[in-house]
Order: sequence, then structure tokens, then C-alpha cells
Amino acid sequence: MKKIAVFILILFLGVVYLVAQTGAADVKASVQRGKKVYTQYCLACHQADGGGVPRMNPPLQKTEYVLGDKKRLITIILKGLNDPIEINGDEYVNPMASHAHLSDQQIADVLTFVRNSFGNKASGITPVEVKQIRAKK
Ligand code: HEC
Repeated sequence: MKKIAVFILILFLGVVYLVAQTGAADVKASVQRGKKVYTQYCLACHQADGGGVPRMNPPLQKTEYVLGDKKRLITIILKGLNDPIEINGDEYVNPMASHAHLSDQQIADVLTFVRNSFGNKASGITPVEVKQIRAKK
């Protein structure tokens, strides 16, 4: 009886491990795809290291927008941003254009990349999350 309990426990832990691994692999693949999207659509303004250009294009390093509310972050990509904001004591007044032409997958990938690069560490974003915000417009 005890042996069966131990066997079931090991089986259970194995399944938990596999699910966790699959999730981590998904985020890793998304980060890799997102890097390409970033290079093509964001790098010119936010720079290769995510450091931005002082008082012109804000940095993406540990900002409250990048690490904070996912809905707000996704909305910035879908609708752009035209609000004076202050990051690390610098003010940014230039607007950012909408990137709604990118697919749900591309937006999910680029944001997952940004949230796991430049010193950031945060959960990934899925195409389903982007789709939900896009539908609410
Ligand atoms: C033409 C230049 C330009 C491009 C291209 C651009 N941005 Fe921006 N981005 C800006 C500017 C300027 C702001 C500040 C807007 C404001 O203050 O209203 C901004 C703000 C942001 C913010 C919120 C503030 C912060 O720094 O945390 C995020 C997040 C962001 N951009 C991510 C991206 C991503 C991801 C892409 C590529 C899909 C991208 N941007 C493309 C110029 C750009």
C-alpha cells in the first residue's frame, strides 16, 4: 500500500515537473521570436539595450509600464501612447504610434521579450491576452 502511495507521489511530481518545463520552454521560444519583432519595430527608438534616448524615447528597463499591469502595457502597443510621462526623473512628451498592425502573436512575443530582457524579469504575455484587449476597443 505504501509503495503505491510513493509511486503515485512520484508520478504526480513528474507531471508537475513536465508542465513547468513546458511553460518555461514556451516563454523561452516566445522571447526568441519577440527579439526579432523588437529589432524590427522597437529598437530604433528604444535602443538595443532598452535604454531609450533620454528625454526623447523612454527606457524599457524596469519601468512601471513594462513590469506593471499587463492590460496597460498591451494597450500601449495597440493604441500607442500620447501622454507626458516621467521615468527616472526624465520627462517624455513625444508620442508613440499605435502598433495595432502587429499580430496578437507578435505583440505577445515582443512584450514577453521586453519583460524578460534589459534586466526585467516578469511573466510572459500570451496571444489570447492581447486578443482580449484588442476586442475591447
Ligand atoms: C518612433 C519611436 C517609437 C517606436 C518605434 C516605439 N516606441 Fe515605445 N515609446 C516611444 C515614446 C516616445 C514613448 C513615450 C510616449 C508618451 O510619453 O506618451 C514610448 C513609450 C513606450 C512604453 C511605456 C513607457 C516605458 O518606457 O515603459 C513602452 C512599454 C513602449 N513604448 C514599448 C514599445 C515597444 C514594445 C515597441 C515596439 C513594438 C515600441 N515601444 C515602439 C517611442 C517609440
